[in-house]
Amino acid sequence: MSAEETNPSLGETTIRFDGQVAIVTGAGGGLGRAYALALAARGAKVVVNDVSVNRDGSSEGGVSRADAVVEEICAAGGEAVANYDSVATQKGGESLLHTAMSHYERVDILINNAGILRDKSFSKMEADDWEAVRSVHLDGAFYSTHPVFKVMREQGYGRIMMTSSAAGLFGNFGQANYSAAKLGLVGLMLTLAQEGKKYNVHVNTVAPVAASRMTETILPPDMLKQLDPEFVVPLVLWLCASDCPTTGGIFNAAMGTFSQAQVVSGAPVALAQNGKPPSPEEVAQQWNAVASVNNATSYPNAMAFLSDFLNMS
Ligand code: NAI
Repeated sequence: MSAEETNPSLGETTIRFDGQVAIVTGAGGGLGRAYALALAARGAKVVVNDVSVNRDGSSEGGVSRADAVVEEICAAGGEAVANYDSVATQKGGESLLHTAMSHYERVDILINNAGILRDKSFSKMEADDWEAVRSVHLDGAFYSTHPVFKVMREQGYGRIMMTSSAAGLFGNFGQANYSAAKLGLVGLMLTLAQEGKKYNVHVNTVAPVAASRMTETILPPDMLKQLDPEFVVPLVLWLCASDCPTTGGIFNAAMGTFSQAQVVSGAPVALAQNGKPPSPEEVAQQWNAVASVNNATSYPNAMAFLSDFLNMS
C-alpha cells in the first residue's frame, strides 16, 4: 500500500466504546470470544451469546461457553452478561435484545458471528444438514438483527456485522449448505446497509480466516499457529466504531491482512436489434465480450445497476 492510500488522521483517533452496548453471537469461543474481549477492553458492555454446541450444532451438554467468557471479561475489569439462547429461533433473537435492554438499556453494536459446520459433498448432503446450517447462519442473523435493527433505527445509531466466508464468496468443495448461507448473508447485508444508511445504522460483512475448532481439521497445523483470531479483531472493531464511515462493505481478514471483496458486473453488451431478441448463435459469437469482466463495475444498489445495464439514464 502506498503512503497516499493510508489515512493518517483517522489513525490518530483512539477507538473506544465507552457507554456503548454490544451483542456478540456465538461469543463463547473462537472469533466471537475475541471480539467480545476486545470490545469490553475498549469500554463496551457486552452481551455474550452462546448456546454451547459442538461444531456440527449438537449439544455440548452442560457446558456454558458464554459464562466462561463473561468471567474472563469481568476478571479483566470489564462488564458483560451471558445469553444462552440459540440465534436460530425468533424467540432466541428477541431474547438477545431483551438481555441487552434489561441489563444495559441500550444496544449499539451487533456482531452476527454464531456458526456451525456440516461439511459433505452435495450428493451426500441430507436436507437436515442443509437446514441446520442455514438456520444458524442465515435465519440466525435475521432473527438476531430484526429486533435490534428497529431499535437502532429509532435511536439513529447502530453498527451491525455479518460474518461471511471465502466459501460463500468463492464456493468451496463440500460446503454447499455453508456457502449458500454465507452468501445469503451478503445479500441481507447489502439491503440492510441501504435501509439503515440514513439512520446512521451501518451494516458490513467480514469474511475471516482464523484458527478455531471450526478450522482445526481443515487448515494445515503450521498455518493455524499464524491464524489467531486476534488478527481479525482490529478490522471488526474499526467497522463497529462510530468514526467508521463505511457501510455495505465485504472485507476479507486473516493474519492481519485485509482486503475488500465486491460483487461486480461486466460492461453491458446489447445484442437486440430493431426490437428483436438476438439468436443463440449471436450470443455465442459475442461470448467473449459478454463473459468478460474487464472494466467491471460495482453498483451501490439494484436500481443503479439496472439503469446502467438497460441504458436508462
Ligand atoms: P467456533 O466454532 O469456534 O465458534 C462458533 C460459536 O458459535 C461456538 O461457540 C458455538 O457454540 C456458537 N453457536 C453455534 N450455533 C449457535 C446458535 N444457534 N446460537 C448461538 N451460538 C451458537 O467458530 P469460529 O471459527 O470462531 O467461527 C465464527 C464465525 O466465523 C462463524 O460464523 C464461521 O462460519 C465464520 N467463519 C470462520 C472462519 C474461520 O476460519 N474460523 C472462516 C470463515 C468464516
